[in-house]
Amino acid sequence: MDTLFSPLETGALALPSRIVMAPMTRSRAIGGVPNDVMATYYAQRASAGLIVTEGVAPVPDGLGYARIPGLWSDEQVEGWRRVTDAVHAAGGRIAAQLMHVGRIAHELNLPEGARIVAPSAVTAAGQMYTDEKGPQPHGEPVALDAAAVEEAIDGFVRAARHARQAGFDAIELHAANGYLLEQFLSPHTNRRDDDYGGDIEGRIRFVVETAKRTAAAIGADRVGIRLSPYNTFNDMRLYDDVDSTYVALAKALGEIGLLYVHLVLTPDERAPSTARRVAEAFGGTVILNGGFDRERAEATLAAGDADLVAFGRPFIANPDLVARFRSGDPLAEPDPSTFYSPGPEGYVDYPSAGEAR
Ligand SMILES: Cc1cc2nc3c(=O)[nH]c(=O)nc-3n(C[C@H](O)[C@H](O)[C@H](O)COP(=O)(O)O)c2cc1C
Repeated sequence: MDTLFSPLETGALALPSRIVMAPMTRSRAIGGVPNDVMATYYAQRASAGLIVTEGVAPVPDGLGYARIPGLWSDEQVEGWRRVTDAVHAAGGRIAAQLMHVGRIAHELNLPEGARIVAPSAVTAAGQMYTDEKGPQPHGEPVALDAAAVEEAIDGFVRAARHARQAGFDAIELHAANGYLLEQFLSPHTNRRDDDYGGDIEGRIRFVVETAKRTAAAIGADRVGIRLSPYNTFNDMRLYDDVDSTYVALAKALGEIGLLYVHLVLTPDERAPSTARRVAEAFGGTVILNGGFDRERAEATLAAGDADLVAFGRPFIANPDLVARFRSGDPLAEPDPSTFYSPGPEGYVDYPSAGEAR
């Protein structure tokens, strides 16, 4: 029977445990370039079975939040190389989460020349933080035309290659939480009448093509994907055929042979049954995430509902989370006021259990 401490060989990865560090934006990448404090942060957490980084923008248009990193320039590749070297030197494994924010953006957060893009020109309700003016309403997106759709996919492919150049073991396509890839999946945000919209086959096409082409570039055994059926975060809405959309998508992703599907369990009561159907249709390695503690994770693995469990917030305040799960040491609580603040406070200053004693 699998436990949190069972090793797992999957795709190109050999993982020493089933404990994944979930992707978390921490907004320390001033100017969109990874730095030494980030290398320290990730290296402190290298005992995770697998680290998935914070969302990383594949192209300038994808960088909608303040101080998040990218992966399109030489300087960014070099910055990430210092991060992956530090993690590998500490014995870890690390995947880059490629996150194109699409319409979840504000002009003030975008680099020079970038624009807010989406499948259709549907502005997201709600606000986002900017360093210059504090919280601001989301900007109005431009609908991607046919050529720009292909360019956006090419951007993911280039970033996947850059990720390998920078020493990442894998990439994770962020098709969850209301960002560009999920914006294509939902009829609320995707109102296109070309090949990339309309019925289920049309709405999943952008995600499937992105998965196919990044897999062709760096190997399907190094491309994972994150999905969040029934997500309503970032002004996403529920729709009638959520279950069949994700089952069709999972089947197509399974045919490509992707490294894993990483499912975020949303609070919707239908989420667990859809997760099981997605896992079955995909047929490969499954990561589950969302509000897990050690006990529930062990029960989930024992029941065969997941191969790996990802922990987000617990990794913020417990760099040695794996050791604490083993020893039974109590977990420290993270301080939400420093989740997205610039600088090292609340980032690299959480001690391990041994240091705290
Ligand atoms: C500070 C913070 C930043 C996050 N940033 C991302 C992100 O960049 N990409 C992503 O897919 N999820 C992101 N998430 C969601 C987490 O990956 C995870 O799904 C969520 O925290 C629930 O898991 P948990 O209960 O183990 O924390 C973020 C969560 C937090 C708390």
